[in-house]
Amino acid sequence: MRLFKQLVVVFAGLGLLVTVLVIFSYDIIKLDWVSFMEIQESYRPMEHPLAVPAQSIPIEGPAYISSLGSPLNPVEADQTSITRGAELFNINCKMCHGEQGKGNGSIAPFLVDFKPADLTSDVIKTKSDGSLFLTISNGVDGRMPALNENLTVRERWDVVNYIRILQAAQ
Ligand code: HEC
Repeated sequence: MRLFKQLVVVFAGLGLLVTVLVIFSYDIIKLDWVSFMEIQESYRPMEHPLAVPAQSIPIEGPAYISSLGSPLNPVEADQTSITRGAELFNINCKMCHGEQGKGNGSIAPFLVDFKPADLTSDVIKTKSDGSLFLTISNGVDGRMPALNENLTVRERWDVVNYIRILQAAQ
């Protein structure tokens, strides 16, 4: 009988302990534990990233530093680049600019104010590779989205190389 009483006390004690732990660990009672990771300045998801510090160079090379003007195309237009460029163009640009780059993609009719440019037009043909690269990177304000988050620097050059193929096919 005495053993039974002792067991009851022990289990009651354990039960209480577990209940208290559960209450705090599931935030039923929320304690603001001091957590050092939280105290630092940090960026929450979807927040704008830090502005690029002056005179710093992106790890992918000086791809676009505004004071340097249009960058030169460092990627040779070989078969690999063009095949990749075609694939990426079809994923990222075709819906607006159309399969042949004519500006007649499947969602072009819904863009009422500004139609996608005809990438095979003389105007675009005369633009430098670097200028096309910057358009893909930064978009056209209010008209075309910036695609720098969809395409790496290398991938953007592949797309530029493919646009030249589309133009030559005209
Ligand atoms: C949501 C639709 C949309 C997508 C996606 C899009 N564009 Fe555009 N793009 C436009 C529109 C609209 C214009 C015309 C802007 C204007 O009127 O100046 C344009 C203009 C351009 C121009 C001409 C810019 C200039 O200097 O006049 C180029 C080059 C271009 N796009 C390339 C691309 C490439 C390459 C991709 C894919 C990586 C792409 N675009 C994806 C809508 C799009």
